[in-house]
Amino acid sequence: MSDENKSCPPPSGNEPEVTRSAAPMWIIVTTLVLLFLGGLYFDRHSGWFNQNVYAPYTSAKQLDAFQPRSGAAAARARGKAVYESVCGICHGPDGLGKLGQAPPLAGSEWVDAKGFNRLSHIPLMGLNGAIKVGGKEWTLSMAAMGAALPDDDLAAVLTYIRSSWGNKASPVTSDDIKKIRASLGPAKAMTSDELMALPE
Ligand code: HEC
Repeated sequence: MSDENKSCPPPSGNEPEVTRSAAPMWIIVTTLVLLFLGGLYFDRHSGWFNQNVYAPYTSAKQLDAFQPRSGAAAARARGKAVYESVCGICHGPDGLGKLGQAPPLAGSEWVDAKGFNRLSHIPLMGLNGAIKVGGKEWTLSMAAMGAALPDDDLAAVLTYIRSSWGNKASPVTSDDIKKIRASLGPAKAMTSDELMALPE
């Protein structure tokens, strides 16, 4: 007998053969179930690739439905929007003011005051001449930047500056602004002394 015959016996009828056969049903079913579960998980947890969606919300639409439409949070969002489009250009988005352009509102005794009567007169009437803010004197002038705003927008922006950047003063309502507006004299930019003569 040669070595060849020893290691490789001639094929007999009992040897296993490689053949093609249908994939077992359980593999197909398991694959479909896993795909389905994967799809379900993606739908529930991915937020459909929108990075603004966070748990426990599952889509941007659902998240949107939970956003405040009224109340303090909505008023604050509005105040911020008005601030950024009307006041922030000069006073800065951070309320820190700009040298030679506008004094700061953050930490300003005019903004963070107990009352808001003097403060409200500034955007309604305008301001002229020397004014001290945080111990520093500014001698510029500001037009009546808030005179054209509706009562609720002006109230929202004043509430916003009184409660931002470390300021912690009470909110202003649109009724407050309405009353103050009705009490105004002829349109003329005020001075710091004239403001101080008003009740706080
Ligand atoms: C065009 C630039 C400009 C815009 C816009 C503007 N301001 Fe002013 N603001 C000034 C200047 C300049 C002064 C200082 C005036 C002075 O020296 O007499 C000032 C002063 C003030 C003060 C008093 C001083 C202080 O820093 O606390 C307040 C309060 C104020 N502004 C609020 C507002 C609000 C609210 C708005 C938006 C409705 C606004 N300003 C928009 C330029 C601006």
